[in-house]
Amino acid sequence: MTRSPRLEPVTPATVDAALALRVHPHQEKNVAPVVKSLAEAYAYGETAWPRLILDGDRLVGFLMGFLDVVWDEEKDPADRRSGLWRLNISADAQGEGYGRFAVEALAGELRRRGTGRMYVTWEPGEDGSGGFYRGLGFRTTGERSGGQVVGVLDL
Ligand SMILES: CC(C)(COP(=O)(O)OP(=O)(O)OC[C@H]1O[C@@H](n2cnc3c(N)ncnc32)[C@H](O)[C@@H]1OP(=O)(O)O)[C@@H](O)C(=O)NCCC(=O)NCCS
Repeated sequence: MTRSPRLEPVTPATVDAALALRVHPHQEKNVAPVVKSLAEAYAYGETAWPRLILDGDRLVGFLMGFLDVVWDEEKDPADRRSGLWRLNISADAQGEGYGRFAVEALAGELRRRGTGRMYVTWEPGEDGSGGFYRGLGFRTTGERSGGQVVGVLDL
């Protein structure tokens, strides 16, 4: 089957399906549920970039980018970064290349906006998503954010 995934905003027609999206139960500690991300997107306004990942009529995932946000107000208010805040690929759609597509699609969006680096954080440990991000070219910065490993990809 030829896959042609695309990103789309969440709409009244798709919000219920978005909220029903689930990763595998053992992965739930690694990523917030879509309901939390959409609440944060409402609160953060323009600096949050939530998108559904669709393939035909099939909802296969959700991503949320962050755009030009102050990374650590206390450490350096001038340090503004962009990147991938959330990535949830539906349990029944994992291993089909949609995670890679999501990262590449957000990278393209950030490039269009003139961003030179894409940041992401992940839970440390064997069952986290560090291997996934390293496989896509992210390198660790040596920082931690809320206990999570910080990775960066040059765009
Ligand atoms: C991690 C996650 C996003 C991967 O999505 P996916 O659609 O299954 O990944 P893809 O099919 O695009 O895989 C791309 C490559 O990464 C590899 N990969 C996928 N998950 C991996 C993992 N956990 N560790 C190491 N490599 C991984 C794949 O084998 C594939 O490698 P290949 O191109 O050499 O064959 C998905 O498993 C997920 O949503 N997990 C739960 C939530 C989470 O952890 N999100 C990230 C935290 S923000």
